Amino acid sequence: MTVAPGPVDGFTPNVPTAAVELRLLSEANLTELLDAAVADADPADVMPAVSGPPDWTEDRRRAFRDFHRARSIATAEPAEVTYVITLDDRVIGAARLQPSADSVEMGIWIGRSHRGRGIGRLVAAELLALAQQTDATWIVASTTSDNTAAQQLLRDIGATLTTTDVAVDAVLDARRPHS
Ligand SMILES: CC(C)(COP(=O)(O)OP(=O)(O)OC[C@H]1O[C@@H](n2cnc3c(N)ncnc32)[C@H](O)[C@@H]1OP(=O)(O)O)[C@@H](O)C(=O)NCCC(=O)NCCS
Repeated sequence: MTVAPGPVDGFTPNVPTAAVELRLLSEANLTELLDAAVADADPADVMPAVSGPPDWTEDRRRAFRDFHRARSIATAEPAEVTYVITLDDRVIGAARLQPSADSVEMGIWIGRSHRGRGIGRLVAAELLALAQQTDATWIVASTTSDNTAAQQLLRDIGATLTTTDVAVDAVLDARRPHS
């Protein structure tokens, strides 16, 4: 789907909104997502920790594929809906919605070279709209206390943030209109 065109709460991204799309992750675009992650992201930003040497080892690349197959694309009971984020048809990151009890958790990562241009904000607004179409009462997200970009992004979409030692938890009322 194309990210909703037009102004987002008076905010103007540095990319044309029509150039950014969310497409469902599938076996067909999983390799492109892995390639984007390897070229442009730290493993810690995009997947659960894997023991062993740092960086994009073969083990970590395999774990990345296995993670997405097990979580969404190759299981009868997906834990989350995962999207690839494309910019001008090139995969540059991923976004996810994970339902759980009365809430749905959202998560986003964008390749380093594409950050800070307003793409995260566009994607967050679209994810929020998708989350509001579910039965969830709450929309939640979490990040670390040193991740100022993620915290700002979550504030931008109207989340209330609670900070503990190292974590920041964000919550939004799914039934309330948000920017
Ligand atoms: C968090 C992330 C998705 C943000 O995406 P992005 O495209 O860079 O974000 P945007 O350009 O839309 O910026 C969103 C807001 O964060 C601010 N921001 C962006 N980068 C920032 C930085 N390095 N430091 C402080 N603020 C920053 C922007 O100014 C903007 O705020 P504003 O609208 O009030 O001006 C991206 O940095 C990322 O992928 N990080 C690694 C993975 C991650 O942390 N995911 C979040 C888990 S919830």
